[in-house]
Amino acid sequence: MGIVGAGPAGLVLAHLLHLRGIDSVVLERHTREHIEKRVRAGVLEHGTVELLTAAGLGERLQRERLVHHGLELLFDGEGHRIPLTGLTGRNITVYGQHEVVKDLVAARLATGRPLHFAVSDVTLSGLTDRPTIRFDGETLDCDFVVGCDGFHGVSRPSVPAGALTVYERVYPYAWLGVLAETPPSSEELIYALHERGFALHSMRSPTVTRLYLQVRPDEPLDDWPDARIWDELGTRLARRDPAWSLTDGPILERSVAPMRSFVVDPMRYGRLFLAGDAAHIVPPTGAKGLNLAVADVKVLAEALDSFYATGEARLLDAYSATCLARVWRVQHFSWWMTSMLHRIDDDPFTLQLQLSQLRYTVSSRAAATSLAENYVGLPL
Ligand code: FAD
Ligand code: PHB
Repeated sequence: MGIVGAGPAGLVLAHLLHLRGIDSVVLERHTREHIEKRVRAGVLEHGTVELLTAAGLGERLQRERLVHHGLELLFDGEGHRIPLTGLTGRNITVYGQHEVVKDLVAARLATGRPLHFAVSDVTLSGLTDRPTIRFDGETLDCDFVVGCDGFHGVSRPSVPAGALTVYERVYPYAWLGVLAETPPSSEELIYALHERGFALHSMRSPTVTRLYLQVRPDEPLDDWPDARIWDELGTRLARRDPAWSLTDGPILERSVAPMRSFVVDPMRYGRLFLAGDAAHIVPPTGAKGLNLAVADVKVLAEALDSFYATGEARLLDAYSATCLARVWRVQHFSWWMTSMLHRIDDDPFTLQLQLSQLRYTVSSRAAATSLAENYVGLPL
């Protein structure tokens, strides 16, 4: 098996295949240091944690993770708690994606199986019959290639035009994300809709806070000195409760991320399978991208196992449809959360609809349960 990309999708797949005795080579464009420092997602679904733990990847995760049993929706200056565990019996875990990647890289290296960092010029050929990967002047003949190389990778563009149907929506806003060296101001995540736009309070540890602000997609980072970021976060996260305030601190990292929904159908071309962000992107408001990547490769590992054990391709042939059922549920949830929580065009009518939807979500047990079930994730 040739696996392009050492993000969560590629590394979890490589490990699940290793446990089944299936050989793979993982090729990563960046250095180990780079991928172990890249700040990305922070929320793991209940099922993702169970899968990682069952695969022997949960030792540090179980020790260091923050288990959350609820989240807060903040609007009109009031916070409303959604009791995730009370409504679903399941919880979520806060544990940085780069920590997951560190654990996965260590586990891969411990197996002695190949993981090449800083490879360049990866090209794919022979995808319909005898797949070959070329990189750095080397050639790798594979039974199958799995494109786990994210949205900007080489795998999806290697498929001939027209062979995949693309579904896409680009949102007219982006997230400015910051990592701050300061204790979280709340024990749980806060998703806030304010007249000035969306804000999110999250965290990485008892001493590191992760925060996001809705900004324009072309927002220059230079326009956001620390003082302006804290000021805007303070405004959007403010509440009538005089006991609450946002604690600021040194900003360690900042970046602007565009918001997009994207799906290709099928997630396969001949002997190339696409998994994770290479096949689909969700806007981050549902905290789903990493979890969806793990869900894909679980399906794929089981299908490949069955193929090598029996010679039967039935599960491999079902891979795309099996994954897409979950992908579209998650797409809907991520779009719904995004639409409910972001300001658009300063339109007062839309704002009233959003507030009405939020009030309904926090006051109806059925609506709150729907949010909670989707947020903690469907069983894998
Ligand atoms: P990636 O993590 O992108 O990994 C792809 C890998 O392939 C990379 O290491 C890349 O360097 C490598 N690569 C690319 N091209 C090549 C090439 N040509 N050759 C070799 N290697 C290549 N998801 C959640 O579940 N919860 C969250 O809370 C959450 N929050 C997010 C917040 C933000 C601001 C952002 C931007 C994303 C968030 N996500 C979240 C999404 C999540 O980070 C992604 O969905 C996840 O990284 C997907 O994993 P992946 O392995 O498919 O792709
Ligand atoms: C994060 O902690 O980075 C995070 C949390 C929730 C989201 C997105 C990102 O919806």
